Amino acid sequence: MKLNRKDLLGLEYLDKDEIDLILQTARPFSELFTRTVKKVPTLRGKTVVLLFYEPSTRTRTSFELAAKRLSADTLNITVASSSVVKGESLIDTVKTIEAMKADFVIIRHSMSGSAHIVANTISASIINAGDGMHEHPTQGLLDLFTIQQKKGRIKGLNVAIIGDIAHSRVARSNIWGLKKLGANVFVVGPSTLMPADVEKLGVEVHYHIDKIIPKLDVINILRIQRERQEQNLFPTLEEFSEIFGINSKKLVRAKNDLLVLHPGPMNRGVEISSEVADGKNSVITEQVTNGIAVRMAVLYLLAGGEGGAGENFDS
Ligand code: NCD
Repeated sequence: MKLNRKDLLGLEYLDKDEIDLILQTARPFSELFTRTVKKVPTLRGKTVVLLFYEPSTRTRTSFELAAKRLSADTLNITVASSSVVKGESLIDTVKTIEAMKADFVIIRHSMSGSAHIVANTISASIINAGDGMHEHPTQGLLDLFTIQQKKGRIKGLNVAIIGDIAHSRVARSNIWGLKKLGANVFVVGPSTLMPADVEKLGVEVHYHIDKIIPKLDVINILRIQRERQEQNLFPTLEEFSEIFGINSKKLVRAKNDLLVLHPGPMNRGVEISSEVADGKNSVITEQVTNGIAVRMAVLYLLAGGEGGAGENFDS
């Protein structure tokens, strides 16, 4: 099966079969990582440009490694040292990249909808690596992959997304993906960090974690996106942490096999305690490893590759 898409802009626009295809295709790529040679020649001759207008550690390096393990050439454009600081527009920047015959542009930008604009402007495949508060589809996919790997399924699981839901693109991509794959999704946070009309996405809204903790199979903990907030939306970090921060005391009534996810970067002691981040339920480092396999699958499928279970990518 093929993906038949030029771009990956958000999980809102994919149907269940397309999400399943990406997750299935990521599986053999993740098995590749146990080998001494972790590279396949699949994207030899292709050029992948990484255009990041916002800070990133995990996502940028993960995409770069994914492209390199598929044998593509990669080019990093760091906005601080590019013509953007001389006033060049996003459109002019991506048209310049197009003129250099890039096959993929992976873009992170503070403006919601920026990846769509770029996708409509140039012929290269565009992957959204986070557009403002809107979506971060590959993070959503790697979270789904990690949950599926650990639990064997997504359908019917009770999954809570906790913290700053309003400003989080990770929350939105998770909600779309989890709902399409049949999970029950709960969002938990202070009312000031809850998007208006969030119930319309088919989630259950809670302002305390205590009541629902015993029935949860997965919790996905989010950082407070201070950089996207113009005013103080909660009294102090200490108070936020007291009510919504996840520590081992709050997990006393949780299921033994509860999975704890966090997209990173973590603010230890704020939304998550070190005990929980490094504890037996945490799959945070697995998320990072799986991120590379999922991004390899996305690049491979957008390049027109045949995906699904049991594919062989060696040739
Ligand atoms: C997230 C992001 O940038 O949206 N991080 C990531 O990609 N791993 C979440 C965050 O910054 O809090």
